[in-house]
Amino acid sequence: MLSKRNMKILVTGAGGYIGTTLTEMLSRDSYEITAIDRFLFGDTLDDIHNVNKIKADIRNLDTIKFKDALRNIDVVIDLAALSNDPSGELDPVKTFSINHLGRFRVASLAKREGVRKYILPSSCSIYGFNDEFVDESSEPNPLTTYAKANLMIERDALALNSKDFEVTVFRLATVYGLSRRRMRFDLVVNDIVGQIFTKGITTLTTGGNQWRPFVHVRDVCKGLITAAETKKDLGGEIFNLGQDNQNYQILDLARKIFSAIGKEEKYEWKGSPDTRSYKVKFDKIKKSMGFVPGWNIESGAKEIWDALENSQVSYTDLRNITVKWYKHLMEEGIDL
Ligand SMILES: NC(=O)c1ccc[n+]([C@@H]2O[C@H](COP(=O)([O-])OP(=O)(O)OC[C@H]3O[C@@H](n4cnc5c(N)ncnc54)[C@H](O)[C@@H]3O)[C@@H](O)[C@H]2O)c1
Repeated sequence: MLSKRNMKILVTGAGGYIGTTLTEMLSRDSYEITAIDRFLFGDTLDDIHNVNKIKADIRNLDTIKFKDALRNIDVVIDLAALSNDPSGELDPVKTFSINHLGRFRVASLAKREGVRKYILPSSCSIYGFNDEFVDESSEPNPLTTYAKANLMIERDALALNSKDFEVTVFRLATVYGLSRRRMRFDLVVNDIVGQIFTKGITTLTTGGNQWRPFVHVRDVCKGLITAAETKKDLGGEIFNLGQDNQNYQILDLARKIFSAIGKEEKYEWKGSPDTRSYKVKFDKIKKSMGFVPGWNIESGAKEIWDALENSQVSYTDLRNITVKWYKHLMEEGIDL
């Protein structure tokens, strides 16, 4: 196996919430990193060492330059995307062009350039609505443009899997936790902490009984790095990335967060009940890769609370609410 020092990893979407945390962790371990991103949230990788930054759109980066960037790369982790349901609905055609076709371009060029592994972070949202526990063999039920685009790239990328080009899909649970360089307060755990911090009360979608699986951002990165490093052939496989005991109904989740940060529970309700509800099994990733998360909702919520108290992140910064920031960019004339 390649030692960390000479393993070369290309990360798309490296300037995002998961990407910045992943790039920091890879940099600390002395990997050689190439980061491709439009940097729509700013120069979020500004002072990280050993990163070759390419500010570009995965859809139209010049093919020769793209192939140059991919030459001698061992592993691609393909994070670039419009990263949630509301952003995906801003312009569904653009969403498919990035999340499906753009990432298919990355995968195809990677295969042509002799990259060994292609890792696709997809989403458990492809399970949509399901009353029963779902696992990797369950029938997907994608309800939104974002989820449909994820399912499309999963299928097309897996079709490229071969002996010399291992394609592995990770369906991430809903991510939470602090990512200092690019924070997302549109993710439910982070949002609940931010609301309690700013107004002492949290607004939940009516009902509060919809199920979701959760995973901490640094555990996601740990899982992706394990996949990049492993000698096991994970080619052609799909893994749910998370932990069985981090499936929660939203009201129970909010209760846990109030308790973790030691505040009195206060709720208000909005909208009609959420049609997306899924609880997910994660035994496959545990058995095959020995993956066990180190974080839980309580420790993750407390860390965000402390960062808010220390002004390391801001709940009111427009950039930290993905769809609002994208709307703002569009008003400024920047095309998605
Ligand atoms: N955060 C979650 O809860 C979660 C859950 C499941 C899956 N995922 C997936 O993980 C990936 C990263 O999510 P995130 O939370 O870090 O989102 P993010 O919005 O913080 O990061 C996405 C990054 O992609 C970049 N980008 C967007 N379009 C691009 C393009 N055309 N070319 C190049 N770069 C482009 C953006 O500038 C941004 O830096 C996404 O594919 C998302 O669907 C995230």
